Amino acid sequence: MKDHIVLTGRRSSLVLERIANGAPLWRHWGERVTPGDLPPRDEQPLSFSPDVVVPLSTAPGFGLGGFGQPLFSAHRDGRDFSCGWDSIEVEANETQLVVHLIDSIARIGLEQRFLLDPVSDVLTISATLTNRGELPLALCSLAPAILPLPPSSKTIRSFTGRHNAEFQELREAMPAHGWFREERRGLTGHGGPAGLFVLGDGAGWHRGPVHAVQLAWSGNSRLSIECDGPGWTLAAGEWLAPGEVRLAAGEAFATPELLATYSPDGLNGASANFHQAIRSRAPWAGRGMTPRPVHLNSWEGLYFDQDEARLMALADRAAAIGVERFVLDDGWFRGRPDDRSGLGDWQVDRAKYPDGLKPLADHVRKLGMEFGLWVEPEMVNPDSDLYRAHPDWALHIAGRAMVTARNQLVLDMSRADVRDYLFDALDALLGELPIAYLKWDHNRHLATAGNADGGASYHAQVMGTYALIDRVRAAHPGVEIESCAGGGGRIDAGIATRVERFWASDNLDAVSRTAIQRGFLAFMPPEMMGAHVGASPSHATGRVQPIEFRAGVALCGHFGVELDPARLNDVDRNLLAGWIATYKTHRDRLHSGQTWLGEEPGLMWQAVGDPAHLILFVTVIDPPTDRLAPVRLPMLTGDGDISVRPISAADATSATYSASWLAGTGLPLPHMAAHSIAMFILKAA
Ligand code: DGJ
Repeated sequence: MKDHIVLTGRRSSLVLERIANGAPLWRHWGERVTPGDLPPRDEQPLSFSPDVVVPLSTAPGFGLGGFGQPLFSAHRDGRDFSCGWDSIEVEANETQLVVHLIDSIARIGLEQRFLLDPVSDVLTISATLTNRGELPLALCSLAPAILPLPPSSKTIRSFTGRHNAEFQELREAMPAHGWFREERRGLTGHGGPAGLFVLGDGAGWHRGPVHAVQLAWSGNSRLSIECDGPGWTLAAGEWLAPGEVRLAAGEAFATPELLATYSPDGLNGASANFHQAIRSRAPWAGRGMTPRPVHLNSWEGLYFDQDEARLMALADRAAAIGVERFVLDDGWFRGRPDDRSGLGDWQVDRAKYPDGLKPLADHVRKLGMEFGLWVEPEMVNPDSDLYRAHPDWALHIAGRAMVTARNQLVLDMSRADVRDYLFDALDALLGELPIAYLKWDHNRHLATAGNADGGASYHAQVMGTYALIDRVRAAHPGVEIESCAGGGGRIDAGIATRVERFWASDNLDAVSRTAIQRGFLAFMPPEMMGAHVGASPSHATGRVQPIEFRAGVALCGHFGVELDPARLNDVDRNLLAGWIATYKTHRDRLHSGQTWLGEEPGLMWQAVGDPAHLILFVTVIDPPTDRLAPVRLPMLTGDGDISVRPISAADATSATYSASWLAGTGLPLPHMAAHSIAMFILKAA
């Protein structure tokens, strides 16, 4: 029997060593290698250490002489707290490894799966733990795997965030002891998915070794890095609340999938791998994405100030500037004059829409646009008929006061009767109205997240929501869904298999958005990033910004409009219509190929496409005191010439440069003011 297992990707490899008395041992995760014979392991115990060395395996246990991060922790009423595997079966080929493990003393079984996609270089990892004992097993934590990080690792790039400030990038040195980020709010979180990038020696945007992970999960999570000399170990999994998972005899618990990747091509290489993996998980995978339509969403234009005439007039103005999908946001259902009531009662407000929403939807369609509708299915206001009829349907903890947020409570999605009610309500709307798109919102964190049995219900909440979305999608396969949670609070690879779009943030200020969008693009591809042109002054920040800047920043994603065009002057309205036309011309390129991010002193840039045809955005927030530095484009590795054409409302002339000049010296830029964006098309000449 060969003693090692090699999984080989495009630019990366995994090498593991089979051993007879435990899970396979990590020997390598990184640069593509052909291992030949494995070099011997150092089996010399360190001083003051157990006499038997316990090297890092895919499924490290606890309590038997290994002192690093364990894969899981569990007990049976205080016993069976340690774990060591004594039955090991391994199935492996060039891209897949399945490990079956049993601990016959603790009576625990584990199946771990590693699948390395040779195209994206993304490893999908999951684990399922089974209680093989007769007494219940309390599971306190379970990660899909514990991954090795090399001793040359230097920096952790992670993200934090809150409403209106999603994906704020943080860079920290590798920890001397440990590092962790826990999400206990029941949702993915405004800091983006449970994910991070670890930069190795000399790594930057375009070059150098980067290991990265993101958890495909829309609930609580835990990410941790621990020093395990001479390198580090990395774990990412679900954070479980006390007592949340208690497995009866024979019962199993599965982790969410963890996406992990290594790239020798810097942060952009790792993100490109993630983008490919997400594209292959997206709902349109296999049948092709249709061009992403230009949206107009009614929220910031009208808020709750709705009626049929106002909405029809807004639709007229949307169609006149080239909008293709008109979305009616919050406020259309009964008992919803503001955000204090009505959630849960998903019938149209006849005072605002006397004949229902059909006339508006038909009007929108006659104008040549698709009709979209906002819903927030998992929520209920205490002031609603639904809550009055079923107060027990809200998550609660007996004897404790309910915690409202935005005046609302959260429905218990683990209950089949709740899901049936919501399915029927959504099914009726989708059956009666020509709805092409649902904006699926979730405007609060979970607190008093208890179920009817008095247990914590975070995991079950996510599973219930996934089940509802899956059921709606199966019944209405033509309807697209956007995941929104107070802006970008639910953006992750778990829900990405169920939605076509993410609402990245309620903050439409183009300066704030630049940072938010760059963080989003670390994990998700641009075609899934809802990006709208908002009003000026910005509703979130009060900053005043020119329409060209706001529109240019929105062009970096799935473009839309979040204002009433009637409030624009004629010049700005025409400019906006021009940017909409520009988006339509270039969206195929903007939504396929690779995305590169970069920086030069005083500017940030984003390029999308491939070296033969790129679209380049250059953003200036604070201009430098001197001239702008040229933009070096390292993806232009060929010998030929490249024609460069600025895209702007005014006519622009092209110039031609050699690819090597653009890669090495850079594209010279015109003068750019603060808060401005320039766009260029680069094509192989
Ligand atoms: C939060 C979303 O992020 C907004 O876009 C809007 O849909 C509001 N909810 C409506 O209540």
